[in-house]
Amino acid sequence: MKPPGCWKMFTVAVCMAFLACLQAQELQGHVSIILLGATGDLAKKYLWQGLFQLYLDEVGKGYSFSFHGAALTSTKQGQELIAKVLESLSCPEDMEPGRCAELKGQFQRLSQYRHLKTNEDYMALSKDIEAQLQHEGLREAGRIFYFSVPPFAYADIARSINSSCRPGPGAWLRVVLEKPFGHDYVSAQQLATELGSFFQEEEMYRVDHYLGKQAVAQILPFRDQNRKALDGLWNRHHVERVEIIMKETVDAEGRTSFYEEYGVIRDVLQNHLTEVLTLVAMELPYNISSSKAVLQHKLQAFQALRGLQKGSAVLGQYQAYSRQVRREQQKPDSFYSLTPTFAGILVHVDNLRWEGVPFILMSGKALDERVGYIRILFRNQAYCAQNEKRWVVDQSQCLPRQIIFYIGHGELGSPAVLVSRNLFRPSLPSKSWKEVEGRPGLHLFGRPISDYYVYSPVREQDAYSVLISHIFHGRKDSFITTENLLASWVFWTPLLDSLAHEVPRLYPGGAENGFLLDFEFSGAQLRFCQQQLEQLVPGPGSAPMPSNFQVLTAKYRESPLISAWPEELISKLADDIEATAVRAVRRFGEFHLALSGGSSPVPLLEQLATGHFGFPWAQTHLWLVDERCVPLWDPESNFQGLQAHLLRYIRVPYYNIHPMPVHLHQRLCAEEDQGAQMYASEISALVTNSSFDLVLLGMGTDGHTASLFPQSPAGLDGTQPVVLTRSPYKPHQRMSLSLPLINRARKVAVLVMGRVKREITMLVSRAGHEPKKWPISGVLPSSGQLVWYMDYEAFLG
Ligand code: BG6
Repeated sequence: MKPPGCWKMFTVAVCMAFLACLQAQELQGHVSIILLGATGDLAKKYLWQGLFQLYLDEVGKGYSFSFHGAALTSTKQGQELIAKVLESLSCPEDMEPGRCAELKGQFQRLSQYRHLKTNEDYMALSKDIEAQLQHEGLREAGRIFYFSVPPFAYADIARSINSSCRPGPGAWLRVVLEKPFGHDYVSAQQLATELGSFFQEEEMYRVDHYLGKQAVAQILPFRDQNRKALDGLWNRHHVERVEIIMKETVDAEGRTSFYEEYGVIRDVLQNHLTEVLTLVAMELPYNISSSKAVLQHKLQAFQALRGLQKGSAVLGQYQAYSRQVRREQQKPDSFYSLTPTFAGILVHVDNLRWEGVPFILMSGKALDERVGYIRILFRNQAYCAQNEKRWVVDQSQCLPRQIIFYIGHGELGSPAVLVSRNLFRPSLPSKSWKEVEGRPGLHLFGRPISDYYVYSPVREQDAYSVLISHIFHGRKDSFITTENLLASWVFWTPLLDSLAHEVPRLYPGGAENGFLLDFEFSGAQLRFCQQQLEQLVPGPGSAPMPSNFQVLTAKYRESPLISAWPEELISKLADDIEATAVRAVRRFGEFHLALSGGSSPVPLLEQLATGHFGFPWAQTHLWLVDERCVPLWDPESNFQGLQAHLLRYIRVPYYNIHPMPVHLHQRLCAEEDQGAQMYASEISALVTNSSFDLVLLGMGTDGHTASLFPQSPAGLDGTQPVVLTRSPYKPHQRMSLSLPLINRARKVAVLVMGRVKREITMLVSRAGHEPKKWPISGVLPSSGQLVWYMDYEAFLG
């Protein structure tokens, strides 16, 4: 038996602890939540329910709350609307009805409608909150302003909150913003700057509701909890592809004025699917509960995304769309929209973990089903020696192996995480996820459901409820920071610009789409599997197809000329370069190729990179014809172009790659660094007689070639093989091979493409040997061959 003194002391200690606990609860303070746009659709459908859920989760944990539903509607009408919404709120299924009614009643009493418009209205709100705090003797913990309003209203509201409705010292402010966050990089940046003038970064919570979807929110915890099993698998050696998909059956009817401006890429891919992509692709932080670490790793994933080309996308539009736009926006009958309602995009992540793994992003309206998922399909590298009939599901390595984060809807009808039984038994937090048996007979991704371990949430929760809870707990990793937002726009804007005039493929909608939207990829290119037989929207222009023409051979400035439509011209030139390379390697054991920068050679480099498997790259030396005086990693550098469009795809020994030394001693093209002389020495040491096997040149609209410009004598003659020159275009300082060195080559090919070159092509065709006026006219190999490659637009206009 305990001595009585001790017992007394124990009782006192328990009582004190209890009191301290009560005090601590009170100390948590009061939170005011102001829902702006409280009578709008989003609020009615999700936000009020989310706030109620927050109240249910947090009640009794020490915070006190008040909820202010604000809108521009008159007070009376607003109150009625809100009362109706509050009445419709529901409790979780497992809550006892009496308790539910009690808590709902409390929540209703704590929620009020407010007409909030002018700065004075915001001042009055602030005063009322302060008065309530004082009256009830509460300490203020913070204020949450949820902007469920169109973005044009953001600035005024932000200004009023900042000037008149910030909480008192020691309390936090959180403003919650809904997309769209801009239309492209520039507009997103403007909006961010504007908001940044009112709020601190840590005060802003930009919502992407996909980050609140339970299956999406589980990606990082799943990766974290299954580190051991995934460590060796989550990489390019094992993953065959990743699919990030959001299919919808609804169309854009009723919201075409928004949709016309945005289209599917801005509406869904730039945000929801990109966010998911980064969660799959990012390096897993050591501590995933550190928001800072998660956000930093996410940004790194953005930086590793390879830039998208026009060919990375396929676009579609459901057939009724243009009609809906005409009707909803009173457009004339002749109006046809080019806005895509369907897009498939091929993304590559350029880092050691993911190089070469295709990430397929796809979303569309008016498709055959509503479903969203992330599917990681693993390579099958096994050969199974036994007959297929004897394969055992959880042992055979020959059956497909996949992990699926099933966002919802579709055949399963609810969120889930599925892992093929022949991969590993996953571990998920047992409090929130439970293992379930799938519906017998159900097939998913080509396999019976019994082939998977299937987990579903213990309690299904709407994305907004999840996010509202994260806002309350200050979990910033579930939201889009300014840096994150801008990184995403940096990635998407060039593609959006390049697709602005692209005609999307029309599809009938629903099950009738058949195979029309199936797409496939090869290398970096994506295309529809089925050729389109009929284009229902008149395409821009009715130019004849390249197949209508033969490759034309003729003479230009007394040298052979090859002319064709661009695609065929590039193929011909690539074939000729390969043939020259093979011949050179056969004769001399190596091939020295000097390449120009700029945009004309890009399709050529890509063709060489992806379609020429017999090219003797291992024996090829790559030189540059000219270079801009910028660091080699600068996107303006010709070497970067070479890297982006050729080097990253091929296997050339690094000691065969010869960038121009424009950046020495941390200076750019300084005479005294003697970079030009160094390059000349390197050429003379490695290239027999300094005579390149092939030099590829272009011709500028002013007649310049390499970086030899009209009216600028450097490099036109003389003994210096490599020279520093000045360009009339930025960046002005250049390094270039000289005409005498170019003219020592065994072969020189000049590639001229596009209508813009038509005029100079005509002028130069009539010019004599006038390198000062037209440097290109000085190209005349002394003992080699010169061949012109011009597309029809440059040659025939
Ligand atoms: C929104 C898009 O962000 O997401 C809509 O603007 C789309 O066009 C919606 O329908 C899909 O969200 P959910 O939650 O229904 O999959």
